[in-house]
Amino acid sequence: MKLLGLGCGRRLGNSEILLKEALMAAEETGGIDGEYIHLHDLKIKFCTGCESCTMSLSKGGSGECVIKTDDMGFLKQKFSECDGLITSAPVFELRPPGIYCTMNDRFLGFGPQYLMDVFKRPKRAGGVISVGGSDWVQLALPQMNLAMFMLNFKVVDQIQEMWTGRPGHSLLHDDMLERAQVLGRNVADAMKKPPEEMKYLGEDPGMCPYCHGNLLLSRGEHVVECPICAIRGELKADGPELRVDWNEEDIRMIKWEPRGMGEHFQHIKERHELFYTKNDGIKQKLEKYKAYKTYSKPTRGPE
Ligand SMILES: Cc1cc2nc3c(=O)[nH]c(=O)nc-3n(C[C@H](O)[C@H](O)[C@H](O)COP(=O)(O)O)c2cc1C
Repeated sequence: MKLLGLGCGRRLGNSEILLKEALMAAEETGGIDGEYIHLHDLKIKFCTGCESCTMSLSKGGSGECVIKTDDMGFLKQKFSECDGLITSAPVFELRPPGIYCTMNDRFLGFGPQYLMDVFKRPKRAGGVISVGGSDWVQLALPQMNLAMFMLNFKVVDQIQEMWTGRPGHSLLHDDMLERAQVLGRNVADAMKKPPEEMKYLGEDPGMCPYCHGNLLLSRGEHVVECPICAIRGELKADGPELRVDWNEEDIRMIKWEPRGMGEHFQHIKERHELFYTKNDGIKQKLEKYKAYKTYSKPTRGPE
């Protein structure tokens, strides 16, 4: 079975060391063939937001991204072929680096058909590793998980390391190396199980029953929502602890399962169709904004 490792930190940096520990430990369980991709080896262009991909939902067509001159096709193929995926990244400004987010933005351009097909496949096992140089790490795992969920991977384990900012710093912490090995074994074991038997094995159960994150949005009157999964529930004080009684229907319709994902695409399609029946006058109204100043840009000499 193929286990893909995806990294985007320094060469032989902390996130790479921990990812390789995980991959090696997974391979040692037998029957697993690890592969490592470093995102900085790839050309990944920014999504420009043209929405050719989502436009195809209502207008027909493949919905694939119009950008064909970078390595997203390579990644798409690798994501299709693997049986498990571990991503590992440093923390930049509380979240994963821009290159990870840029890659994630481009998943929509894989096309609605590809994404729906991915959601018709059985779930595959995933693991996520994040390494920060301090404790400013709050958005890292949630945002890394988002990429995994969009491709229908079940994150069976996740690790947030902190205070390891210098190159190779994690090598001074045997516990971190061992924890990464555990993650590798957890992902390997899950890969060998039927999807319904894959369980979350992370150390922190978190608040959200799906992504196991601890971020909560306040929706008023004791109602909270997981910002990643959009499940709502009622916040309750349980002695000194807080707990949430999650809405069962939200869990059933969660966007990371085929039913919820299908409904999401259907809603977008309906809004698009409504737009096309009522978009009179937009072209004319845009003239006002077109006329307002030109873009400021740096002047450049020949490269
Ligand atoms: C631009 C930049 C921003 C960073 N922001 C954070 C941060 O918000 N929180 C944090 O804990 N570490 C932050 N760091 C430190 C890195 O996460 C840390 O050095 C990590 O070990 C790098 O991983 P690597 O060795 O795999 O490259 C930042 C580093 C850089 C270069």
